[in-house]
Amino acid sequence: MAIKIGLLGFGTVASGIPFLLEENKDKIVAASKETLEIAKVLVKDEAEKDRLLSAGNHYNFVTNVDEILSDPEITIVVELMGRIEPAKTFITKALEAKKHVVSANKDLIAVHGSELIALAQKQGVAFYYEAAVAGGIPILRTLANSLTSDKVTRILGVLNGTSNFMMTKMVDEGWTYEDALKTAQELGYAESDPTNDVEGIDAAYKAVILSQFGFGMAIDFDAVSHKGISTITPDDVAVAQQLGYVIKLVGDIQETESGISAEVSPTFLPKDHPLASVNGVMNAVFVESIGIGESMYYGPGAGQKPTATSVVADIVRIARRLSDGNIGKSFNEYSRPAVLANPEDVKSDYYFSIITPDQQGQILRLAEIFNQENASFKQILQQKSNGKEAQVVIVTHRLSKTQLAAITEKLESDTDFKLLNSFKVLGK
Ligand code: NAP
Ligand code: HSE
Repeated sequence: MAIKIGLLGFGTVASGIPFLLEENKDKIVAASKETLEIAKVLVKDEAEKDRLLSAGNHYNFVTNVDEILSDPEITIVVELMGRIEPAKTFITKALEAKKHVVSANKDLIAVHGSELIALAQKQGVAFYYEAAVAGGIPILRTLANSLTSDKVTRILGVLNGTSNFMMTKMVDEGWTYEDALKTAQELGYAESDPTNDVEGIDAAYKAVILSQFGFGMAIDFDAVSHKGISTITPDDVAVAQQLGYVIKLVGDIQETESGISAEVSPTFLPKDHPLASVNGVMNAVFVESIGIGESMYYGPGAGQKPTATSVVADIVRIARRLSDGNIGKSFNEYSRPAVLANPEDVKSDYYFSIITPDQQGQILRLAEIFNQENASFKQILQQKSNGKEAQVVIVTHRLSKTQLAAITEKLESDTDFKLLNSFKVLGK
């Protein structure tokens, strides 16, 4: 008998599932040891149901979730609606009804994952979400299974397809921000509210999940500081190129002496760093570990088919475990108390772009501010000097978060200087 699936939502990702189930049927059935059948699909209202039916989608569309949750024949519920509510309520009810759940909802998992994982464990059911991080890249299972013998020390990732696509189009092809965002939405890369993509929020959700799989630590979303691509100016891009860097939105999770630190920020990457050549909708997760050393996992971070492929892989895994009689094992078994790093232990080189009065002694004054915080310069560049004001760009040697905060505070409170931007720089 077929394993019956209830889909919650039929948008970009969900509507890619039938393609895989059909085109890759033989392999999927062989791996699952069962046939898989989409039994019911939840849509918002009757109008949406009529629209989908008249477009040739011959599924059993329902508008009341209880028709799926109380259907004893449905074994697996696949949530692909996005956002927190009502997804959280529906998943909770599905787990309570002892249904196995697959989701790609990083917003929900990053904020309420611990609660849902605990419920799934209590109920002895599966809760899998490979597609929640980096779309088509099978990074969560890789961390949970293949890297189980290794100790991960740092994960750096280009984790948002939309903003990487936008940056690539804007920097390499001169597109406007608006055109790049519109195209990312049309291609199905962006979240329903693209603010999450461009402000680094989506990548920060992924950093929370990566911290659980890579470091065993369930950190709060609020512990992940985030800045998005909207803070990058064309001038920053030009200076980065001049100094031999590429700017990308990078998630950085590392374990320091005192604990874990996670952040998402525009980052200057040396041109020869493997992450620097990750362009368009591609994502990559660069893992530093004591065993393998450095490894990178690369692929499409968003889009219908890549993401649906990860979702279907979770479904197949559940079907197979059901057939083998070992369902209920946690997706990620690595867990230890979450301890946040002391800001003094979180260190990086930094880029500062500062407007100063164009007069004698200003560089010296800047040098004094940095020197008071024991910061030293790696590179310094003065440009756009017009007699009134000049732009000074400084790349420092390693600074701690504490030093960075003190320097920022001094620059912002000094009326002579205007701090345009400061970004992390990965050492060359
Ligand atoms: P989407 O295209 O917006 O699809 C979501 C669908 O769910 C929409 O049709 C939406 O209808 C429907 N929906 C929302 N609330 C509903 C409700 N209460 N009842 C029934 N239907 C409801 O989103 P998506 O891109 O497929 O993303 C789905 C999930 O996958 C999200 O969690 C997203 O973060 C994640 N994800 C997406 C990608 C990607 O590349 N797109 C990659 C990785 C992960 P309306 O449009 O009418 O609201
Ligand atoms: N909106 C997300 C992105 C989808 O652009 O990366 C994949 O999580």
